[in-house]
Amino acid sequence: MNLFGLFTEGWAVIPSAFTNVEPLVKIAERLSGSFRAAHIGRDNSARLEQNVRSDKIMWLDENVDPAVNVYLNQMEAIRELVNQRCFLGLFDYECHFANFEPGDFYKTHVDAFADERNPRGNRKLSSVFYLNKDWQPEDGGELVLYAPDSREEIARVLPQLGTLVLFLSEEFPHEVLPARRLRQSLTGWFRTRPQGI
Ligand code: OGA
Ligand code: MN
Repeated sequence: MNLFGLFTEGWAVIPSAFTNVEPLVKIAERLSGSFRAAHIGRDNSARLEQNVRSDKIMWLDENVDPAVNVYLNQMEAIRELVNQRCFLGLFDYECHFANFEPGDFYKTHVDAFADERNPRGNRKLSSVFYLNKDWQPEDGGELVLYAPDSREEIARVLPQLGTLVLFLSEEFPHEVLPARRLRQSLTGWFRTRPQGI
């Protein structure tokens, strides 16, 4: 896995990041019916804002399916690599499935704020892993990443099966453009150590 862009620029797009992703696609399909409307805001002020985001999500834990554990182990390996290189102090990882139905979007936002004092630990590194076979440019649904200062577009990523995107949560504004077919992903965040541990 080539994390060079992450180490130098703070973001990376990694096509075909993992092998054998078919089981994850199957689970996402199987569980789709129980995804719930996503909320925005910090944990204690989370609210439903369908004018900002309209996707549906399901948080993951080790008990969902063995294939999820394989994924979580891969993210754990990334956590260790990043900590060795970047000293970000990444402590754990939280992750949810997300479904964007045709027309769904997530307007420009950052995933965390540098001055945040989250008792659960701050989000430092965002990850998005896509589960969509044969995604075509005309299907839309791109992830657009913007530069921290200039806010100029720096990347436009098709949510293609197997592509993993990593970026520093506090630094890169980003948005999800409306898709024309169901767009499925695993979105997660590496956090710093929770307070009091
Ligand atoms: C998010 C997000 C990006 C994507 O859930 O915070 O920005 O490509 N998702 O799905
Ligand atoms: Mn985001």
